[in-house]
Amino acid sequence: MKITEFSNLEQSQTDSRPSTRPISASDISCLKIGKNKIEILEKKYNKMLTINIDDIKLMTWIKHEDTYEVTFEYKQKFQDKFFFDLLSGRLGHRALITQIAQDNFNYNYQRLETIKKIQNGEIIKCRKRENNEIFVAKIQRINHFLIERELQINLHIAQNPHENVASIVEYYFENDQIIFIYPYFSGGTLNQLVNSNYKDLSKIKVKTIMKKIFSGLNHIHSLGIIHRDIKMDNIMLEDINDHKSIRIIDFGFSAFKDNLNYLCEKCGTIGYFAPEIINGQFYNQKCDIYSLAQVFHMLLTGNPMFDRNLNRQQIIRLSKNNLFAIDYKNVKESKAQQLLFKMLDFQDKRYDVLQCLEHPFFFKTENLESKIKSVETLKFKSPF
Ligand SMILES: Nc1ncnc2c1ncn2[C@@H]1O[C@H](COP(=O)(O)OP(=O)(O)OP(=O)(O)O)[C@@H](O)[C@H]1O
Ligand SMILES: [Mg+2]
Repeated sequence: MKITEFSNLEQSQTDSRPSTRPISASDISCLKIGKNKIEILEKKYNKMLTINIDDIKLMTWIKHEDTYEVTFEYKQKFQDKFFFDLLSGRLGHRALITQIAQDNFNYNYQRLETIKKIQNGEIIKCRKRENNEIFVAKIQRINHFLIERELQINLHIAQNPHENVASIVEYYFENDQIIFIYPYFSGGTLNQLVNSNYKDLSKIKVKTIMKKIFSGLNHIHSLGIIHRDIKMDNIMLEDINDHKSIRIIDFGFSAFKDNLNYLCEKCGTIGYFAPEIINGQFYNQKCDIYSLAQVFHMLLTGNPMFDRNLNRQQIIRLSKNNLFAIDYKNVKESKAQQLLFKMLDFQDKRYDVLQCLEHPFFFKTENLESKIKSVETLKFKSPF
């Protein structure tokens, strides 16, 4: 453990102190989180400790009525305990949880059911033993170079959260597995939504959903990340009754846009990926817009843009040449058609997220109505 002491401070305390004793104001410590270190001012001993985050093996945060009791277990087999006030405890917890991997998943969580078997592992529903809250664990074997990238991107997002993007709350390295813990989104995926009640999906709801996806995607892009696998199964609702509660999930194919090496990789899902990806051209964040156009079409029509009877090779051939068939019968609104076209254009001319968000498709009709109403009200207002 690397504990750097500041001048005129006392000897470091590394013994563990009992947690049951009453806590006085002088016990409360202050916490400052740096990139790779934590600085803790222990008021009681007037002592400043700097702890290297890499030296921490495990940490537990116990929330009491108005304090957090935090235990750091170091790789060198001793531990330190501190008390923080609620605010700095909460801030510290959020910052640190994103920097420290743990190795006791089964101790902290009870496995409930498998949601989905995935290529490299499984997605399970689990219960946090400490407070009975339900979470989702994405468990993957560490046998793929993309996993490390998925971790880096998840950490970056967890440190810069957004209401329409899923953020990990913790992660674990256990045996040869990496486990990402996410909040459980009970509303299901957009695929489930469309399959269960496409007929009920009014234009207003589609608009709301699309706006929120764009908003989440704008955040992802502004963090310098390209998602690269935008599709119906990777967009979820936190709450089935709230169409604003969109969350973009799954950063398994995501990449940082500045890393040129990544940007010739061909990845994504057939029927969603942009022509420039299939053609092996140098691409950018606009590939997510093309994939999102497929989602938009599904929401508007209940059907994919590529006929369900086409096989993989046929779809790839069509996507390569940017050939697609819009279901005009179900996309009657001209503004929706125009936006769809802008999202499906070749890379250079294709809209980016902000251009899409500024498209008249998103102009509020209520606003217009309320403007008309207010004009009418004015007309009848007495000047006296
Ligand atoms: N936080 C969550 N809450 C509820 N269900 C989830 C959550 N995260 C993932 N799922 C479910 O698990 C599925 C797969 O998750 P995810 O996309 O992260 O894994 P994946 O390996 O990329 O799978 P795929 O190849 O199907 O995209 C999602 O489509 C969704 O049905
Ligand atoms: Mg997925």
